[in-house]
Amino acid sequence: MARVALVTGGTRGIGAAISKALKAAGYKVAASYAGNDAAAEKFKAETGIAVYKWDVSSFDACAEGVKKVEADLGPIEVLVNNAGITRDTAFHKMTLEQWNAVISTNLGSLFNMTRQVIEGMRARKFGRIISISSINGQKGQFGQVNYSAAKAGDIGFTKALALENAKGGITVNAICPGYINTEMVQAVPKDVLEKSVIPQIPANRLGEPEEIARAVVFLAADESGFITGSTLTVNGGQYMA
Ligand SMILES: NC(=O)c1ccc[n+]([C@@H]2O[C@H](COP(=O)([O-])OP(=O)(O)OC[C@H]3O[C@@H](n4cnc5c(N)ncnc54)[C@H](OP(=O)(O)O)[C@@H]3O)[C@@H](O)[C@H]2O)c1
Repeated sequence: MARVALVTGGTRGIGAAISKALKAAGYKVAASYAGNDAAAEKFKAETGIAVYKWDVSSFDACAEGVKKVEADLGPIEVLVNNAGITRDTAFHKMTLEQWNAVISTNLGSLFNMTRQVIEGMRARKFGRIISISSINGQKGQFGQVNYSAAKAGDIGFTKALALENAKGGITVNAICPGYINTEMVQAVPKDVLEKSVIPQIPANRLGEPEEIARAVVFLAADESGFITGSTLTVNGGQYMA
């Protein structure tokens, strides 16, 4: 029987590539999103993947969303915590709102989502939790104190939860993408990308969303059961943790 995978933020960017790659690998896939209905409907029409709208920064919304997905597709066996946002600014100008938005969407969501599925995974003795952190959670980034803190938190979450569940057939891993060619990175001014970002990447290019999806499919596989608590960097050689 096909395993069920849920990808948060699975309708655009890296998440869309992950959803498609999991579907191609034989999973029954659900993709969640926050509010961009047009992108979600287009994604659904193109891929046939079921889409669900809720805010991953809300625990109650996650509980309700997971219930709906499980009623439609069955128990979630692979959870990909991918949804994320940036609210960049130097720390001395950062508002509490910018801090809270990034922490609750990029780190709080890991609690909000994983807490909904972990008991079922423990009972069934199988699960894959894969969270998309970032190179900037490993090394820090100017203008991203909020984002770097949240993404570093994702790695700590992964390691501790991996320890708690290693005996029960559940693996918990993080992936740290470098700069990937999505709308999030396209929002960086072109001259900054060309003059400051790409020269720092030994591969001399941005990564593609499909290159992150490949890492997710690898970690999600039944055969990857001995890999847990790991942080997989996919960054063109930009930072070697
Ligand atoms: N792009 C990069 O270079 C890069 C590098 C390192 C790490 N990452 C991480 O990779 C992940 C995906 O990034 P991306 O570049 O693919 O982003 P993206 O193109 O901006 O897409 C973000 C996705 O997350 C969803 N989302 C955002 N906030 C949400 C919320 N509160 N509740 C539910 N869904 C929410 C969005 O839904 P809507 O479509 O409804 O807005 C969208 O589907 C993020 O965690 C990001 O931090 C990205």
